[in-house]
Amino acid sequence: MNKQLENLSLYHSLRELALNGKVVCFSGAGMSAESNLSTFRDAGGLWEKNRIEDVATPDAWQRNPERVLNFYNQRRKQLFTVEPNAAHLALAELEKIIDLRIITQNVDNLHERAGSSNVMHVHGELMKAQSELDPSYVVELEDWQLQIGDKCPRGGQLRPHVVWFGEPVEKMEAAYQLVAKADLLLVVGTSLEVYPAAGLVTSVNPHVTKLLIDPSELNLTGVSNAHHLKTTATNGMQQLLKLITNK
Ligand code: OAD
Repeated sequence: MNKQLENLSLYHSLRELALNGKVVCFSGAGMSAESNLSTFRDAGGLWEKNRIEDVATPDAWQRNPERVLNFYNQRRKQLFTVEPNAAHLALAELEKIIDLRIITQNVDNLHERAGSSNVMHVHGELMKAQSELDPSYVVELEDWQLQIGDKCPRGGQLRPHVVWFGEPVEKMEAAYQLVAKADLLLVVGTSLEVYPAAGLVTSVNPHVTKLLIDPSELNLTGVSNAHHLKTTATNGMQQLLKLITNK
């Protein structure tokens, strides 16, 4: 499993590229897997234990809001028990020395807790709630529990501030603009199966170097200049940090 960065053909140009260019990291659930947060599509993942149509669609919310709240309450509760891992920490470290922005599909707050600023959450944030009446009414949550009866000042029920299947991904345009400026795109821990977010990777100029860090086979059809380091987020990111800092 300990695949070496130095075996990739881009190894010798990677440090210069990272130090002199704009770097964007696009992360998915695999980034937080070693913090003990389940991914969605791996064996035993969240979508194996819960049906998307029961907990992550507007219809599910209409049919049984309590069940939906409970699903996200459990995930929020778990978030209080976990810590950022070495991959989150490596990214926060890199931000101090390179021009790095993060786009994440993750709703957890582990990038921020590791010290990264400039994190764009395209699928929302677990520690926020929004009003059912007015999605632009968004509040920070202090605790893990969101309940029926928790309302915005206009009386709308609060729901998780998470993008459900069938809902528009409002942050997509801003995400496309950000990756369009990248000289190096790091893609860490995502199956690249969920659109439109996964389309970010294919949208990038073919000349832009892409380094993918993920232990699984990935479908990279249509992604040129891609280098896949088939290993875990912590191992891959630590190798990259070492290379860039020269330590
Ligand atoms: P997935 O569960 O689809 O994919 C997780 C990826 O993480 C897989 O490619 C795994 O190989 C990889 N992985 C597992 N362990 C890893 C490790 N230790 N280090 C690095 N990678 C590892 O999760 P996402 O691609 O993030 O959306 O899923 C995208 C979206 O689908 C999520 O944001 C969520 C989900 O439905 C919404 O809820 C809207």
